[in-house]
Amino acid sequence: MLEIKGVSKRFGGLVALNQVSFEVRRGEIVGLIGPNGAGKTTLLHVVSGLLFEDQGEVRLRGRSLKGLAPWERAARGLARTFQHIRIFPGLSVLENVLCGFHLRRRAGFLSALFHLPRTAREEGYLREQALRLLASLGLAEKALLPAETLPYGEQKKVVLARALASNPQVLLLDEPAAGLNERETRELGTYLRALQSQEMAILLVEHDLNLVVEVCQRVVALDQGRIIAQGAPEEVQNHPAVLEAYLGR
Ligand SMILES: Nc1ncnc2c1ncn2[C@@H]1O[C@H](COP(=O)(O)OP(=O)(O)O)[C@@H](O)[C@H]1O
Ligand SMILES: [Mg+2]
Repeated sequence: MLEIKGVSKRFGGLVALNQVSFEVRRGEIVGLIGPNGAGKTTLLHVVSGLLFEDQGEVRLRGRSLKGLAPWERAARGLARTFQHIRIFPGLSVLENVLCGFHLRRRAGFLSALFHLPRTAREEGYLREQALRLLASLGLAEKALLPAETLPYGEQKKVVLARALASNPQVLLLDEPAAGLNERETRELGTYLRALQSQEMAILLVEHDLNLVVEVCQRVVALDQGRIIAQGAPEEVQNHPAVLEAYLGR
């Protein structure tokens, strides 16, 4: 589904990604771990098109994404969330989720960009879908509240719902459990497994190794831009190079 092939990225003299190659298959959750500065967020930026790779390429469903803008990649089935949450302040919870829909609207991206009117029927349908998504995350009764008034854990659900609104086939998550309490983290794990059972391919960047071990089929460990271990979660977690990367500095 998602293939990362020999991707390298440098910032001036710093090599943030060094020949990174791995794959995320349909219906699979792959964990991406590594200490701060390992290159995890940079990789998500390269995959989602916010940064272009210097070498290598990213392929989605067998097609190269080379040179495509983030919204073009989104239209091909890619969605992501950000490490630092991006709620649109001043908008309700529901409106925040509706923002994620423009990519699969019949009226299309350009008309959304220029605020062309959409039909009442389309509007009603999208509202219903957004409310269904919010209900699946336990937020139905908060739909009309200003999003910025929700507690942090619920704001993270809102940005997840927004990413899911485009009905992606590949979902990239950058530390979705950061700032969540134990119960919220468990709920997130259950939710991710439900998405997986709908054949979604998920790349999960996460510091909470308990969550990673619980939901991921495979784990890739990065350090200083290089893959230092990959395989089954427990194996990678206990790999000497991984222990050294986490403890060594
Ligand atoms: N825009 C940028 N310009 C320069 N250096 C950057 C930029 N983005 C990230 N870096 C550097 O690249 C390395 C990888 O960062 P990042 O991908 O954010 O790591 P992680 O998400 O694994 O913590 C770090 O050393 C970071 O300082
Ligand atoms: Mg990061």
